[in-house]
Amino acid sequence: MSPFHLTRTLPEDATGAALRADVLNGLTRTPKTLPPKWFYDAHGSELFDRITELPEYYPTRAEREILLGRAAEIAAASGARTLVELGSGSSDKTRHLLDAMPELHAYVPVDVSESALRQAGEALVAERPGLEVHALIADFTAGIRLPETPGPRLVAFLGGTIGNLVPEERAVFLASVRALLAPGDALLLGTDLVKDEAVLVAAYDDAAGVTAAFNKNVLSVMNRELGADFDPGAFEHVALWDAEREWIEMRLRSRTAQTVKVPALDLAVDFAADEELRTEVSAKFRREGVTAELAAAGLDLTHWWTDGEGRFALSLSVAG
Ligand SMILES: C[S@@+](CC[C@H](N)C(=O)[O-])C[C@H]1O[C@@H](n2cnc3c(N)ncnc32)[C@H](O)[C@@H]1O
Repeated sequence: MSPFHLTRTLPEDATGAALRADVLNGLTRTPKTLPPKWFYDAHGSELFDRITELPEYYPTRAEREILLGRAAEIAAASGARTLVELGSGSSDKTRHLLDAMPELHAYVPVDVSESALRQAGEALVAERPGLEVHALIADFTAGIRLPETPGPRLVAFLGGTIGNLVPEERAVFLASVRALLAPGDALLLGTDLVKDEAVLVAAYDDAAGVTAAFNKNVLSVMNRELGADFDPGAFEHVALWDAEREWIEMRLRSRTAQTVKVPALDLAVDFAADEELRTEVSAKFRREGVTAELAAAGLDLTHWWTDGEGRFALSLSVAG
């Protein structure tokens, strides 16, 4: 079996310190917000995998369709010997790319979820003798340092996860990705596209309530990590479409006026009845916007592929 390396690029308590800083900052401002990366403990990662199988959640199926149809073209255009994947999660769809890249030397999945990295990495080295897997536990918004592996590199950022960043964060993030690319390297970016509001909202508010459980999982993370006393039943899952900003927002709405204690921060947080905590934005894109954002970061879009129904796009870009 080929080697599986798991590297924590953050100092030992960095995750705890970052969670404390984000909760203090996010719950003491108006309106209250939290960054979506805190959904993804082991349970949150499992819930996300269940979301990808829901009838309403089209992005995974649409992106898989593109990957299945275009993996050979992507592999040929990039000529990559190292595949880096940001926010890799289960690496499930990535297998279609790996299948088309028999010459690939190394796969570098990067995620905040250690459990997802372990599960995916251990399975991949067993399935693909000869492929080195260097998993990085890291925050892709905090700048990452890649292991020494052969180029060219293809950096993949799938699942539409870039939409979880607001425009200013995306500009900083894309510039940091551009800085990782040497001549000959490329970025493969998955972006969910603007479409009918009912389809979008249903994808974030499924009938079985899995997305609601995923959204509320961030409350359990704060209870466990910070000793907080959030009652998930006292909050309602909300998903809505912001037509002006062209993004979905997930929120948790307090059912009553309540005070939640967060002992690790020595903090008491007051929620008014119906007050909402924003837990995620998921921006939806158009081709012109993606091209412009990439260009602003010094990246030239060379390929644009969509699924048959035009719901989702994969783009390939290179350092300009
Ligand atoms: C929407 S899921 C997508 C998973 C997978 N790429 C897919 O397409 O199904 C987002 C993934 O990014 C990870 N993630 C979210 N924020 C992150 C961050 N700031 N740094 C590293 N990983 C992050 C999550 O743990 C999760 O695995």
